[in-house]
Amino acid sequence: MNEMTSRFWEIFFEVYEWLPRQGPGNRACAERALGLCRDLPPSPTVLDLGCGVGGQTLHLAELTLGSIIAIDTHAPSIERLQATVDARGLADRVRPVVGDMAQPGLPPESFDLIWSEGALYNIGIENALRICRGLLCPGGYLAFTDAVWRKEDPPPEVRTSFELDYPTMGLAPDILSVIEKTGFSLVDHFSLPDEAWWGDFYTPMKRRIEALRGKYGGDAEALGILDQLAQEPEMHRKHSNYYAYEFFVTQKVREGRR
Ligand SMILES: C[S@@+](CC[C@H](N)C(=O)[O-])C[C@H]1O[C@@H](n2cnc3c(N)ncnc32)[C@H](O)[C@@H]1O
Repeated sequence: MNEMTSRFWEIFFEVYEWLPRQGPGNRACAERALGLCRDLPPSPTVLDLGCGVGGQTLHLAELTLGSIIAIDTHAPSIERLQATVDARGLADRVRPVVGDMAQPGLPPESFDLIWSEGALYNIGIENALRICRGLLCPGGYLAFTDAVWRKEDPPPEVRTSFELDYPTMGLAPDILSVIEKTGFSLVDHFSLPDEAWWGDFYTPMKRRIEALRGKYGGDAEALGILDQLAQEPEMHRKHSNYYAYEFFVTQKVREGRR
């Protein structure tokens, strides 16, 4: 395994920033999760945390009439989302912001719906859920995806890969206990199907990696990093029965009912 050098990150972003999204997910899953948020107002206030280049932000803009604030720490992703928002004439409803979800600086109880795909774990799930609870209106919804183990004995290459990025990853019941403990009730949860990993994520990633192999033809370091990045879709092809991305749809429990 290569070290995470500055060259690694340079090439990592050269691959990831180009993708339609930076993690598993698709429009059908967003629609299914949104459909579980049954009593949202007609034009909900929505916050998308760790939005990346905004794959799911744009789905939410299509699937709701709401106004959306989309936050990510990575400024180039926000710049790309802003350009898409402007090109699609969505600037009156979608506001991309460079920011840290751990310190969002937004008014308490101001959102009907908080959405986050593959991002909350970056600040610790329990911490993230407490922050979300404070930002949600009474009875507001939090819909998020998170990686979970499906089996407790993954092959070493799978465990090592997740340990680098998500050492505290648990099973779905671990997330369910955090949901309950932090003042949410579970509406429902479901695993993302395989097409949500490949369609907008691993298939374009593989294509991008192949294109960059051409660009970096004589550069052994860059090619080594591309080989390393190519391991993730390959691991998924071989071992996806050991882990999943789970969509959790939850509702903020009103104070008196906790
Ligand atoms: C796996 S990507 C998912 C991006 C997008 N939600 C998607 O599914 O395509 C995780 C995102 O979380 C962002 N992120 C990590 N830590 C963050 C933080 N503290 N505040 C806001 N965004 C953060 C990363 O920059 C990255 O874009």
